[in-house]
Amino acid sequence: MGAVERVEVGTASRRYGVVIGAGVLGALGAAVREAVASARLAHVFGDEGLPPETVRDVLASLAGAGLEAASSGVRPSEDGKSLQSAYAMLQAVAARGLERGDLVVALGGGITGDMAGFVAATYRRGVAWVNVPTTLLAMVDASVGGKTGVNLRVGGAAGLAGELQKNMVGAFWQPSLVVADVAVLGSLGERAFRAGLAECLKHAMLSAPFGDPELGAWTKGSLARVLERDAGTLVELVARNVRLKAAVVGGDEREESPDAAAGRALLNLGHTFGHAMETIPGVSPTPDRSTAPLQHGEAVALGLVCAARCAELMRLVGDGLADEVRRTLGHAGLPTVAHGLPGSDEVLERMRHDKKSAGGKLRLVLPCGPGVCRVVAAPGDEIVKAAVDAVRG
Ligand SMILES: NC(=O)c1ccc[n+]([C@@H]2O[C@H](COP(=O)([O-])OP(=O)(O)OC[C@H]3O[C@@H](n4cnc5c(N)ncnc54)[C@H](O)[C@@H]3O)[C@@H](O)[C@H]2O)c1
Repeated sequence: MGAVERVEVGTASRRYGVVIGAGVLGALGAAVREAVASARLAHVFGDEGLPPETVRDVLASLAGAGLEAASSGVRPSEDGKSLQSAYAMLQAVAARGLERGDLVVALGGGITGDMAGFVAATYRRGVAWVNVPTTLLAMVDASVGGKTGVNLRVGGAAGLAGELQKNMVGAFWQPSLVVADVAVLGSLGERAFRAGLAECLKHAMLSAPFGDPELGAWTKGSLARVLERDAGTLVELVARNVRLKAAVVGGDEREESPDAAAGRALLNLGHTFGHAMETIPGVSPTPDRSTAPLQHGEAVALGLVCAARCAELMRLVGDGLADEVRRTLGHAGLPTVAHGLPGSDEVLERMRHDKKSAGGKLRLVLPCGPGVCRVVAAPGDEIVKAAVDAVRG
C-alpha cells in the first residue's frame, strides 16, 4: 500500500476523518469499529455497477472486525434516485433490525452515497453512516459535507412524467467516516472517470481563499498522470480536493453564509447552468445523441464554460477566461459543447427553478479572478442567455 492521507473534516455538527489511499479498503472494518464503536449490525448499500468482489471485500472486512454485515444493491440512475427507492432501502434496514447504534455503509458513486446517506439520516431519526465513495466524483466532492437526498418529480399532467428536480428532498447528515480507496477506480469507465475531473477543475477555480491557490496549476500540470490513473497522483488529487471542500464546508455546514465571497454556496460554480442542462432530456455531450443524457460532471463542465463567459460579459474578468476553461476541459476529455440544447429561454426558465434561487431571483457563482469566485445576483436575461449560447453545438 502506498501513501495514505487522512483529512479531518470539522463541521458544527460533527468531526470525521477521510482516509485516502490505494488499498485502504482492506482496513475498512477496523476503521469503522473505531469510528462507530456502538455498531453491532452494518448494512451496506452497494452500487450495482461495482464488480461483485468489491462488495464481497467490504463485507469481509466488516465481518473481520466483528460486525454483522449484509448488503443490498442500489441501481444508480437519476430517475431511481427517488423517495420510492429510499423507501425500499429503509425497509431493507428495518428488516435487518438495525438499531440506533448501528450503521449504514454507502459503497458506490454519488447517487448511492446520496441515497444511503438519506436513509441513514431518516431511519430512526438518524443512525451513523460511513461513506465509501467509488467514483472520482464521489471521492472529490460528494463524500464530504453531509448533503444527502433524492430527486423529486414535480408537475406533469395526464400521464406526463413532470420535471425532475435534482436533490429537492434531503437532509444534512454528516458521515462518521469516509474511506476513499483509489484502487477501486480501476474498474470505473473512462467517461465516468473524466466526469469526476470536472468537479476538480471547479474546485481549482475557487481554491485561492481556501488555502490552496496552486490547485489549478497543479491539476493542469498533473492531468496526464491523472488520466493514466497513476495511484500516487490520484491519492494527491483526491486529498487536495477533499481538503479544499472540507475548508469550504467547515465554516458553513448548511450553506447559510451571507458572505458572497466565502461559504458553501461557492461550490455551486457551474451548477446552476449545469443542472438546467442536465435535466433536459436528449441533451448530449457529443453529436452522437446516444450519449445523452449528460452525466452530472459533464453538465458541470459545460456550466463552468457558461459561468466563465457570463463573467466575461459582466466584465468581472477579462476576455479569454472562457477559452482558457474550454482548453483545460478539452485536455481532461470533458465536453465544452452541449448538443441538442433547446432555446436559451427554456434553459433560463429551468435555471430559475433551481433550488438555489431565492424568491425566484436567480443567483450565480461566477469567477472574478484567478482561483476566486463570488455569488452575484444574475445579470439581465440577455447576458445569461448569451452565456448559455457559449456551449451551444
Ligand atoms: N452530496 C453531495 O455533496 C454531492 C456532490 C456532487 C454530486 N452529488 C450527486 O452525485 C451524483 C453523481 O455521482 P457520480 O458521478 O458518482 O454518479 P453515479 O453514482 O451515477 O455513478 C456513475 C456510474 O459509475 C458506476 N460505478 C460507481 N463506482 C464504480 C466503480 N468503482 N467501478 C465501476 N463502475 C462504478 C455506477 O454504477 C454508475 O453507473 C448525482 O446524483 C449528484 O447529484 C452529490
